[in-house]
Amino acid sequence: MQSVIELVDSVEIISAKPQFIIAKKDPSLEIIGIGRSAVVFKIKSTSMALKIFPPVFEHIALEEAKIYALLEGNNFFPSLYEAGNNYLLIDYISGYTLYDCLLKGIPLTELNIKKVDEALHSVKRLGLNPSDIHLRNIMLTSEGTIKLIDVARFRQTTYDSQWDDIKLALSTMYFKKYTPKKIPACILNGIAFLYKKRVVQAPLIKIKKVENK
Ligand SMILES: Nc1ncnc2c1ncn2[C@@H]1O[C@H](COP(=O)(O)OP(=O)(O)O)[C@@H](O)[C@H]1O
Ligand SMILES: [Mg+2]
Repeated sequence: MQSVIELVDSVEIISAKPQFIIAKKDPSLEIIGIGRSAVVFKIKSTSMALKIFPPVFEHIALEEAKIYALLEGNNFFPSLYEAGNNYLLIDYISGYTLYDCLLKGIPLTELNIKKVDEALHSVKRLGLNPSDIHLRNIMLTSEGTIKLIDVARFRQTTYDSQWDDIKLALSTMYFKKYTPKKIPACILNGIAFLYKKRVVQAPLIKIKKVENK
């Protein structure tokens, strides 16, 4: 098998809109997720994931690696095995993001939501400020447990209300008896678009400075 560095070097990511394009990659890498700052691959026939940042976002790799080091041993997060200038090698999580669960109609439970809260509390106890907590950064594993990914913004100092707003939407709509549990992409993406434009979050958003501890 090739070395991690060889695998990283085999990848060329083009920053294009609306999302990155993977121009080339080693055949042993399977694309499992395209985010806003990186592309994530499963290394075939292993249980590891390689998160590779294109040059414009390379600086995030080191920051995210430092935060994973602080989270070492916390079972709500994948373990970090190795990090370089533009990549992280972490546990591959078998399962679906909460976003994909809603799309596919995989039911979410109130216990799943409690577990996310538990994960966030465990992060706060370390003096971190868990941020960017949204449906694509939370996974429901094939064993039914919750894992959080994408920890790069856990040291930001402003309060991020996304998870509060998602919980409110889930409790006032999704968990109601007659709400369908499979939600079409156009509706999910429409809500996300309006939320980003601050059309649907106005009454909820509270931006406050996290007090320096
Ligand atoms: N360890 C992992 N195991 C399985 N899928 C993952 C893993 N890490 C990321 N993903 C998938 O890749 C997507 C993008 O990863 P993410 O770390 O959120 O990138 P970004 O920082 O660019 O948002 C996630 O939404 C998820 O679908
Ligand atoms: Mg992400």
